[in-house]
Amino acid sequence: MKITLRLILSLLIATTIVVAGFSYFQAKHEEKRLNEELRLRTTVLSKSFKEAIESFLERTDQPDRIQRFIEKFQGHTRLIGLVVDMKDGQRIALPPELTQEELFKKESEKVIEGNKPVDINSKWNGRKVNYHGVPLVKEDQIVGALGLVHDRGFIVAQIGQFWKNSALTFSILAIILSIVSLFVIRWSVTGPIARIGLMVQKALGVETGVEPKTDKEQGDIEKLLYGVSHMAASLKAARLDLVEQSRAVNAEGTIWTKERLKDYLNSQLRGKKLFVVSNREPYIHRKKGNEIECITPASGVVTALDPVLQATGGLWIAHAAGNADREVVDKDSKVSVPPWKPSFTLKRVWLSEEEEKGYYYGFSNEGLWPLCHISHVRPVFRMEDWHCYREVNQKFADALLKELDDDPPMILIQDYHFALLPKMIKDERPDAKIALFWHIPWPNAEAFGICPWQEEILEGMLGSDIVGFHTQFHCNNFLDTVDRALECKINWANFEITRGGKTSAVRPFPISISGVPNAAAQETGKDPLEKLRQDHGLKDKKVGLGVDRIDYTKGLLERFRAIERVLEKYPHLQGELVFVELGAPSRTLIGSYQDHLKEVEKLVEKINQRFQKGNYRPILFLEEHHDQKRIFDFYRLADFCLVSSLHDGMNLVAKEFASSREDENGVLILSRFTGASHEFSSALLVNPYDVEGTAEAIHQALTMHPEEKKERMRKMRQIVREYNIYRWAADMITELLRSF
Ligand code: F6P
Repeated sequence: MKITLRLILSLLIATTIVVAGFSYFQAKHEEKRLNEELRLRTTVLSKSFKEAIESFLERTDQPDRIQRFIEKFQGHTRLIGLVVDMKDGQRIALPPELTQEELFKKESEKVIEGNKPVDINSKWNGRKVNYHGVPLVKEDQIVGALGLVHDRGFIVAQIGQFWKNSALTFSILAIILSIVSLFVIRWSVTGPIARIGLMVQKALGVETGVEPKTDKEQGDIEKLLYGVSHMAASLKAARLDLVEQSRAVNAEGTIWTKERLKDYLNSQLRGKKLFVVSNREPYIHRKKGNEIECITPASGVVTALDPVLQATGGLWIAHAAGNADREVVDKDSKVSVPPWKPSFTLKRVWLSEEEEKGYYYGFSNEGLWPLCHISHVRPVFRMEDWHCYREVNQKFADALLKELDDDPPMILIQDYHFALLPKMIKDERPDAKIALFWHIPWPNAEAFGICPWQEEILEGMLGSDIVGFHTQFHCNNFLDTVDRALECKINWANFEITRGGKTSAVRPFPISISGVPNAAAQETGKDPLEKLRQDHGLKDKKVGLGVDRIDYTKGLLERFRAIERVLEKYPHLQGELVFVELGAPSRTLIGSYQDHLKEVEKLVEKINQRFQKGNYRPILFLEEHHDQKRIFDFYRLADFCLVSSLHDGMNLVAKEFASSREDENGVLILSRFTGASHEFSSALLVNPYDVEGTAEAIHQALTMHPEEKKERMRKMRQIVREYNIYRWAADMITELLRSF
C-alpha cells in the first residue's frame, strides 16, 4: 500500500503543478485580453463623447446645460460614471453625486496638464473601476478633461470563474488519474512484486509450516528486498560451502576419518588443548548390584563429540548424572574415559537437586526446549528457573576457567543448556576462542521473542566467536532474531554479527555420525538378527522400526496413528507387520513428558487391542534404555525405519539407520521437519501430521522394488560417509581457528 500511495501522491503533485501553472498563465492572458477590450472600448467611446462635448462647449459654457447634455450619454454598457472637470475647477458629472467628490480630480489635472489621455484602474464605492480621461479643447485651448468611468468588476468575476472551472477540471482529472493509477500499479507493479516476494520467502524455506514473518511493518518492495538479500546471502554461503567441500575432498582426496581428524587437529591446534562443555556427560557410571557399570547415554551431543575427543584428547566438562559417578573420579572430579580405552579427561560438575530442577528440567527443558521446537507444547518461563539457569552457567564457567592455563584456549560449548556461558567465559578470558553449537532448531524471531529473557540469552550466546546450527535456515532465523532484539550490526553477506566491537560468525554445521557401523554392532555373534526375531516374535514378520527418546517432539502419536491407518487400509498386513519402538524414557520428571508418555501408551494399547490375533500385536513398545549394539541390530533387521519428528534440529537416528545398512536394504521414512531431510532427499519424505500420507509411505516402503531400495540407500550412505562427524568437527574447529 505504501508504494501505491507514494506513486499516486507523486502523480497528483506533478499534475497539480502542471495544471496550476498552466491555469495561472491562461488566467493572466485572459485578464490581459479583457483589459485590452475595455481599453479599446473606452478609447472609442471617449473619442465620440469628446467630439460631442467639445462641439457643445463651442456653443455654451453654462454648467446646467452641459449637465443636461451629458445626461444623454447614460446607459452605455458598463459605463458607470462620466466626469467633466473644467480647468477652473468646476465639475459636471454623472451620476450627479460624483460632482461633490474629489475622486479622479488628480487624474483630470494630469490630463489637462499633460494634454494627453490618462488610463488608470481604481476603486469607487468598493467597486473596481477603470478611469479613462481625455483633454477637452475649445478654440485650440485646453479647457478641461473628460473622464469615463467603466466597471471592471466583470473582469474580476470572469477570472474568478475561470479559476473555479480549472479547479473543478483538476479535481475530476485527479480522481480519474488516481483510480487509473491504482489499477495500473496493482496489476503491473505491486501485484507482481508481492508475488515475487512471496516466492522468495517460500524459497528461503518454510520448514514446519510456519512462514518466516517480521514484526516490522514492511511494504512489498521491502519484503522483496529482505527476501532477496537473504537469498543472495544463502546462495553465497552455499557456494562457499561447496568450494570448501570440494577443496576438502579434492585436495585431500579422502574421506574424513578419526585418524585424519587426529592428524589434522594435531597439526592445526599445535599443542592447544580442546575443551568441550555439555550438560550430558559422555560416560555415566552407575551401580548394578555390587558392580559399577559405565554406559553411554542416548544423546545426540554425545554421539557427535565423543569420537572427536577420542581423536584429539582434551577435557570434557559435564554434569554428573550417574549414581556411581563420585566413586570413580579423583579429587578434582576428573576421570579418564572411555574406561576400555582412556583417551580424554572427563571433569564432572555436581549439581544439587534444586539446581538440576531449575536449570535442567525447568528453564532448559520446560522453557527453551519447547520454545525452539515448534511442536505445540507451551514453554514455561519461571523466574526461579531462570535464576538457577544463570547460576549453573556460572558454575560451569568457574569449573572451566579453573582449568585454563595462559595459552588462548579453544572451547566447544554444546547446546541450549549453556546460552549464557560464552559471555561469562569471554568476560574473564577475552583471548579464548569459543564456538557454541546449538543442537536444536532456532525458531523464527516472533516465536523466540516470547521469551522474557531473550536479550540476555542472545547477549550470552554472542560471547562466542562462532555460533553454529545444523541448517542455514536456523542460522537465518538466529540472525533475524538478533537483528530485532539487539542493537548491533548484521553483515548478511558474511553471516556475521558485530556488537560492542566484537564479531560472531553464524554458520551451519550439519552434524552427523562417525559414518561406519558401530564396532559393538559388528562384534555381535553369528546370527544376532535371527535371535532378535526369535526373542520378540518377529519370525516371518515385516518389521518397522522407531528409535527415540520419548519426547513430544518426536511425533510418536502421529507415527502410531499412521501404523493403525496402514493396517486398516491394507488388511493383509494385519498379522504380518510389526512396528518395534525402541523408546528411551527421557526427562520423566517433567509433567508434559509424563502426560505424553501416558497418551502414547494408551494409543499403543488401543491399536494393539484392535488388531491383536493370538500372540500377534502390531506394536512392540520397548520402553527402556537400549544399548547401541541392540539398536544397531534392530536397524539391520528392520524393513523400514520411521522418523516422524514434528520438528528436529538434525535427527541422528536417520543417519545411524543408513550407516548400519551395509546390505543397502531397508527404507527410511523421514519427517520433512528434520534437519536430516535437507540432506536425505532420497528418503521417503513425509509430513508426520499427515497420517494418510505417512501410511501410504509405509505401504510404499513395504512394496518397494529391491533395486529402488538399494539406489536410495546407496545415496544416503554416501552422504553419511562423506559428511561424517569428523568432518563436522574439522569444519567447526577450522572456522574457530580462523578467528585467531
Ligand atoms: O537435541 C538436543 C539434545 O541435547 C540431543 O543432543 C540429545 O539427543 C537430547 O537433546 C538429549 O537430551 P537430554 O540430555 O536432556 O536427555
